[in-house]
Amino acid sequence: MQTIHETAELRKVIQAFKQTGKTIAFVPTMGNLHEGHLSLIDAAKEQADIVVASIFVNPMQFGENEDLDAYPRTFEADSQGLATRGCEILFAPNAKEIYPNGTQVETRVDVPALVDHHCGASRPGHFIGVATVVTKLFNMVQADVAIFGEKDFQQLAVIRKMAQDLCMPIRIIGVPISREPSGLARSSRNGYLSVEEKTKAAKIYQTLLQCKQALENGNRDLKHLSSEAMAGLEKAGFIKDYFNIANPNTLEDATSDDKEYVILLAAWLGTTRLIDNIYVKLADKA
Ligand code: PAJ
Repeated sequence: MQTIHETAELRKVIQAFKQTGKTIAFVPTMGNLHEGHLSLIDAAKEQADIVVASIFVNPMQFGENEDLDAYPRTFEADSQGLATRGCEILFAPNAKEIYPNGTQVETRVDVPALVDHHCGASRPGHFIGVATVVTKLFNMVQADVAIFGEKDFQQLAVIRKMAQDLCMPIRIIGVPISREPSGLARSSRNGYLSVEEKTKAAKIYQTLLQCKQALENGNRDLKHLSSEAMAGLEKAGFIKDYFNIANPNTLEDATSDDKEYVILLAAWLGTTRLIDNIYVKLADKA
């Protein structure tokens, strides 16, 4: 695997691959890679000849009181993991490469239709930071296809809409959530959890499954379902950020007539904010 820190060098290498007819898949990350990230590399390998992963902890998507400085940086282990999985190019730019003029004065990408709820509501400006950095990275890598995890369901929706609205010549592929055997969604932030908290965190997925089951069983009191589910989590020691049953296409509140739902939640366990979601498609009744 080739590790590249500068855009000019990256462009040269990618252009050479393209001239020989190779297709390029891109997997953007912030590093501290786990099996969830590496499953995106596997998916990328199925989509194109050459896989480019990036590691960049993007300051623009962190709020003032968030964990930018504490965000785990494990570059050596990450690059070993990527190489073992068959990634061809690791792009690891520094902040100056991405934001030569700082984050305040640069052009931003806003996808307003999708950020009123869920993480967009609790982390103002977060998705502008994500959409802006992903646009920059897309322009640097010039891939044919980009791979994102469904773990960040709203992020994936924002990227899909951004790519469509801005006519970006790239296909966006979503990959299912990779979970620990306990059901806990894999996340770099799980490393902040104590052993006890990690055991407790498995309750998130159990709660999502129960809520999905209730929808499948015909329960359509969406408000009550979500408040009851969140109350169960609060009783177990979680602090609520949000628990929403949404339409997976618009990300607006779902209605009882919908046939597809996404249940999205964010909750704090101690000082760690965890997110998860589950997609529900109701079987057509004859
Ligand atoms: P990061 O949190 O490092 O995640 C990188 C990619 O890995 C995202 O597409 C995310 O959805 C996916 N991912 C994380 N955990 C996953 C899991 N358990 N199963 C499947 N996929 C998982 O998301 C970001 O970085 C940033 O916002 C980024 C897109 C890189 C822009 O800075």
